[in-house]
Amino acid sequence: MKAVEILVVMLLSFDVLGAEDLIKPIPESIEVDISKVRLGKKLFFDPILSRDGTISCSTCHDLQEGGDDNLKFSFGIKGQEGNINAPTVYNSVFNFRQFWDGRAKDLKEQAIGPIENPLEMGHSLQGAVQALKKSRGYSKEFEEVYSDGLTQENIVDAIAEFEKALITPNAPFDRYLKGEEEAVNSQVKKGYQLFLSKGCIICHHGVNVGGNFYNKFGVFQDANSSNLGRYNVTKREEDKYLFKVPSLRNIAKTSPYMHDGRSKTLKKAVLLMSQYQLGREIKPEEIDLIVIFLESLSGLIPGIAK
Ligand code: HEC
Ligand code: HEC
Repeated sequence: MKAVEILVVMLLSFDVLGAEDLIKPIPESIEVDISKVRLGKKLFFDPILSRDGTISCSTCHDLQEGGDDNLKFSFGIKGQEGNINAPTVYNSVFNFRQFWDGRAKDLKEQAIGPIENPLEMGHSLQGAVQALKKSRGYSKEFEEVYSDGLTQENIVDAIAEFEKALITPNAPFDRYLKGEEEAVNSQVKKGYQLFLSKGCIICHHGVNVGGNFYNKFGVFQDANSSNLGRYNVTKREEDKYLFKVPSLRNIAKTSPYMHDGRSKTLKKAVLLMSQYQLGREIKPEEIDLIVIFLESLSGLIPGIAK
């Protein structure tokens, strides 16, 4: 048995019902520098960051919806299709690393990725600085916020600060965790008990109900992934098909699911999890209850995103 399978079997034999505090509510607010947030917001919505001026961060991360684009794969400049599903930007500040394979250590490092990805915005950070210098008052705005003005470093710093503010507190389930007994109905509570007893909690826990470590996609059954996951970064055999366990926050709003967008519905996603990650059968009516629980993880879109 591989190490990860042993871990799952070991954890499954624990009384996971004792682990109820393993999902933590999202804090109501987070400390941010509001002038950086405002500048970062402007950049997030501005297609000027792409080489041909057609694609902004918000093209693929729609903040009025789930913070993703509801596509299997996203489209970048010149109509080019990507090869991995766009996750939500909401609550990404709580993930231990960024990207499915964890190749960025934080939001600042992450923001360079799409700007320089030829399939996404196809620019260079240096090119973005040049474009911003030529445009509507950006130089002045940067100078007001940063002592060294408009630089590559400050572009990603401002974007990352805006993303820190993109948190969605007060989901019904969080209100329940905080003591509001009536915030969720009995079906949600049953679904949550199943989420614990079936073992989903082993991988999906913490503030983000995920986002804390890597796990193999396909522990008990080959998941036929074409993407090698963490292996792309480390080139270590044991890292093949390891992905960052995704957050389940606002999951009802971010179909399709999995790194390759293979499941359109949450029902299907939960079914795949029971087969690939848990190696156990979960009855259809139990899956329905787990889905109802997952739907209670949708929080409030913050004012700053509107
Ligand atoms: C063309 C579509 C596209 C554009 C434009 C785009 N993204 Fe993304 N974003 C993606 C995809 C696809 C991924 C997943 C890539 C991966 O994991 O390899 C992603 C991942 C992320 C993540 C990591 C989330 C996580 O849970 O790991 C963050 C944060 C993010 N993008 C923010 C941004 C910001 C900020 C911008 C603008 C500078 C941006 N994105 C532009 C498609 C896009
Ligand atoms: C052993 C760890 C593990 C367990 C147990 C587990 N998951 Fe997952 N889950 C993952 C990983 C890893 C992924 C990412 C798969 C991929 O590569 O696309 C994932 C993906 C998901 C997704 C899709 C998320 C998205 O944004 O696309 C959902 C929904 C989900 N899991 C729900 C559950 C539920 C419900 C259970 C219990 C029935 C469960 N998981 C059990 C590790 C686990």
